[in-house]
Amino acid sequence: MKYLLLNGPNLNLLGTREPEVYGSDTLADVEDKCRAWAGELGRELQVFQSNHEGELIEAVHAARGTSDGIVFNPGAFTHTSYALHDAIVAAEVPTVEIHISDVEAREPWRRESRIGPACVRRIFGRGVDGYKWAIRHLHYRTVHPPVARSYGVDANNPDTMGDMRLPDPSRGDGLYPIAVLFHGGGWRRSYARDQMDGIAADLARRGTATWNVEYRRLPPVGGWRDMLADGAAAVDCLRELADEFPLDLERVTTVGHSAGGHVAFFATHDAQIRPARFVALASMLDLELSSRSHLAELVENLLGGERDYLNPLNPVRQVPLGVPTWAVHGTADESVDVAQSRNYVRAAQAAGETAELVEIPGAGHADFLEPNSEAWAEAARIITDPA
Ligand code: DQA
Repeated sequence: MKYLLLNGPNLNLLGTREPEVYGSDTLADVEDKCRAWAGELGRELQVFQSNHEGELIEAVHAARGTSDGIVFNPGAFTHTSYALHDAIVAAEVPTVEIHISDVEAREPWRRESRIGPACVRRIFGRGVDGYKWAIRHLHYRTVHPPVARSYGVDANNPDTMGDMRLPDPSRGDGLYPIAVLFHGGGWRRSYARDQMDGIAADLARRGTATWNVEYRRLPPVGGWRDMLADGAAAVDCLRELADEFPLDLERVTTVGHSAGGHVAFFATHDAQIRPARFVALASMLDLELSSRSHLAELVENLLGGERDYLNPLNPVRQVPLGVPTWAVHGTADESVDVAQSRNYVRAAQAAGETAELVEIPGAGHADFLEPNSEAWAEAARIITDPA
């Protein structure tokens, strides 16, 4: 399998061009990193950069039949070029649109993407690391192709969609248990469900169907109402999905990572379907603790000035949940302190809940997103436990 990395105008100046926006890596650094990221997944990567629209169009055309996917940062052509949109549609090669900067937090014209509708995913605002997630997305699409379904009222809204992955039919003799996955990223729009692709594919390989969902994130101010409503709706739509896919609604597990554990808590709490268990991976379950740490700004964004909602929106204050819970956390988590899971489990047990704390010695925050990590192996064992 071979992928193509395409960079558009002015990206040859990376490293010196507005480093406060784009960072200090040069284009050569970015290309080297991308080759290494693709190599880790056993993929080859070809690279090309041009400042000319026509050359980029021709590179997209040439990818047809020769590349299995394109990672494309079209620079400012993103916002203007219908011709690049048409080239991607014509080439029929899965293409991920990527931007280093947070194009939604800059000038309004950068929010518009002409090529977006032709791409399988848009990734922005994660720095150069975004290229890694784009490569991974292409990889896991081929490892285990997802079936996308909308669960919201607006079928065209990319924020109320999910990816269904079913186990190999030879593994099941009836209905599959299903895990609903909520990604993390501090409830911010620049983080999306592609982060869960690897573990979604891995669970399906282990015999559990996965419904890896997107949900409306922040901003806008006060957006938590829509976000949490989406969480519950994403669980409840399993009833409709069960008409189409062989799903066992008695064996639903809600799974969240990081801030997605917070969304998953309220989805579990509010949905009409009662999940059989809730598994929180390195999750933000104690907002008071978060607001006294480097995560304070995220909590401020969540509350949007509605300070009275700190308790109603704080999982540790909303126990018992009524669903057996596992909080799995690495002791070396540099992002969300393991104390969040400890506090939560203590409070849940004190409220009479079945709740278990599983600490993974030495594991960091993102280890749970790596299908080959020990942290994930332990989490997967809990999620797929038939008991
Ligand atoms: C960019 C964002 C575009 O708006 C800009 O014109 C670029 C770079 C990014 O990677 O953040 O050239 O694509």
